[in-house]
Amino acid sequence: MTVNGPRPRHVIIDPFQESAYANAGWDVLRSAGLDPVATLMSVPSSIALPRLLSEGFVADAAFVDGSHRFHEVFVDLYFLRKIVRPGGLIAVDDVWWPSVHTAVRYFERHLGWTAISDAFRGAPIGSGPHGQGEQEVRCKAYRLPEMSFEPPFQDFRGF
Ligand SMILES: C[S@@+](CC[C@H](N)C(=O)[O-])C[C@H]1O[C@@H](n2cnc3c(N)ncnc32)[C@H](O)[C@@H]1O
Repeated sequence: MTVNGPRPRHVIIDPFQESAYANAGWDVLRSAGLDPVATLMSVPSSIALPRLLSEGFVADAAFVDGSHRFHEVFVDLYFLRKIVRPGGLIAVDDVWWPSVHTAVRYFERHLGWTAISDAFRGAPIGSGPHGQGEQEVRCKAYRLPEMSFEPPFQDFRGF
């Protein structure tokens, strides 16, 4: 997540960066000279995101490519909606997986997230969220509504 302005900040969340990836991503970031503006949080996003929220952290944009389990993606999006400023961007990788796609769809259908068409160009990938042979793009970007709102629970529809 990068916060714009005079003091840009990039927060990376990855509990397995050292144990599973030997810090490869963090080392690339350091070799690019970006570590002064970057923070690595080595805990699951379900722990890191509420922590950032309670610290008052506000982001312009977020990129989600962590756990691909439905409940963990849903929790990521739940907290990112409160951390990314109104009108900000949330990009999600691997939306062609049903677990990821279904989580994102709730936010599109109920909370006013708008997919930005052609945000990511490239060849379609995968077999679509319902496994019916349709081709899906790999990454999608969503713009949050300019005004945050909470829908009445009575308006809930299956997603
Ligand atoms: C598919 S990799 C993508 C990494 C990176 N975005 C890239 O494209 O190279 C998924 C990453 O999510 C991390 N991850 C897995 N579970 C996570 C969780 N609960 N919270 C945060 N990150 C998680 C993994 O350690 C891994 O680094």
